[in-house]
Amino acid sequence: MDIIIKDFSAEYVNPVAEIEKICFAHPWSEKSLAEELENDISHFFVACAGTDEATVSGYIGMQAIVDGAYITNVAVLPQYRRHGIGDMLLKKAIACAKALNLDFITLEVRPSNTAAVSLYERNGFITVGRRKSFYRSPVEDGLIMTLQFNENE
Ligand SMILES: CC(C)(COP(=O)(O)OP(=O)(O)OC[C@H]1O[C@@H](n2cnc3c(N)ncnc32)[C@H](O)[C@@H]1OP(=O)(O)O)[C@@H](O)C(=O)NCCC(=O)NCCS
Repeated sequence: MDIIIKDFSAEYVNPVAEIEKICFAHPWSEKSLAEELENDISHFFVACAGTDEATVSGYIGMQAIVDGAYITNVAVLPQYRRHGIGDMLLKKAIACAKALNLDFITLEVRPSNTAAVSLYERNGFITVGRRKSFYRSPVEDGLIMTLQFNENE
């Protein structure tokens, strides 16, 4: 499958909002996503699939705050999963964080989300903490997973 990772832009607000609705119980709205376009600390990317690269199959959001990068969300449409798209998106965010000279990249994830935990682990993320009852619907702790960048990289 041909996949191209592109910067998030206004034309992708609606497709990404659709992905949010399909993938999450508490989706980001079109308005919230559009605001990220104006947010200097935000670095969002979309994965485009298909011969005309018109279909947005997934996306990742990252914010740079002081010396760290925070993944706000990563999601791939169900019919596009297990084709390496989540991995491509995460690697793009990691490369972006390194290019910004940040020290680490971090995120929260449900311990029950074995697909996501496995994706992060294979990219070098380590569980460094746990936020009690971090998630709603259903209530669940949030694992804090972090990838610390090597000073020599
Ligand atoms: C997590 C998610 C983004 C992964 O996207 P994806 O494009 O399917 O992931 P990839 O195909 O790149 O998979 C990369 C690796 O992740 C892990 N992985 C992905 N899906 C998995 C699954 N269902 N079960 C176990 N491991 C899985 C595997 O290690 C996989 O490598 P492999 O295919 O060589 O075994 C996707 O499942 C998703 O959108 N889930 C719903 C939204 C979500 O939970 N986001 C994370 C919020 S913290």
